[in-house]
Amino acid sequence: MLIAGNWKMYKGPAEAAEFCAVLRGRLAGLEGVDVAVCPPFVSLGAAVQALAGTEIAVAAQNVHWDAEGAFTGEVSAAMLLELGVYGAIVGHSERRQQFGETDETTARRAAAALEAGIWVIACVGETEAEREAGETEAVLRRQVAALDPHDRLVIAYEPVWAIGTGRTATPELAQEAHALIRSVLDVPILYGGSVKPENAADLLAQPDVDGALVGGASLEVESFAAICEEAAKKQ
Ligand code: PGA
Repeated sequence: MLIAGNWKMYKGPAEAAEFCAVLRGRLAGLEGVDVAVCPPFVSLGAAVQALAGTEIAVAAQNVHWDAEGAFTGEVSAAMLLELGVYGAIVGHSERRQQFGETDETTARRAAAALEAGIWVIACVGETEAEREAGETEAVLRRQVAALDPHDRLVIAYEPVWAIGTGRTATPELAQEAHALIRSVLDVPILYGGSVKPENAADLLAQPDVDGALVGGASLEVESFAAICEEAAKKQ
């Protein structure tokens, strides 16, 4: 099981360092679950320092496909590695919807990052309109088929209508989507979308749910740690 906290655009370096210092104490001794935090770029270094010597990983929220170049606003996997960051999220729905990310750019980011030696959480998921139009399966097949298998690739299934809305997918619906994704690409699959301590156990109990990508509930140590503890029970 992997529980990853996607902080989005929250927590600058000082807050990140403070959070990680408390988290490392709170999770000390917890076994049977891999834990990662994904701070904004500027807070990655502070998180790496505050978590040094622990098993808690630090990952970025995006990564570019080239090692360097004229790409204003972008950061490469080589730069992340230099900082001690060994993972990245790619293709989050907020990037797809607000920053022009596509299946193709997501796949390029994933392939290059994996090639450079970091692990990747690639996000997929249908919008509410796509679900209502009966297009969920086609959308997921298309998004997943754009990615190549790799032993450091993880997929996060995040139905867009469940992100930040408090409307979690039912465990059955999540399982159905995860099984479909696994039939296309057999890699670990996280569920994301309003995961909270109260609903984590039921979602993580599904056979094809291998962990969670947690947004809002990852911003407080207590709720994030509680989700990590639920995952640890499922090993
Ligand atoms: P949420 O976000 O847990 O706040 O719904 C999940 C995500 O966007 O990764």
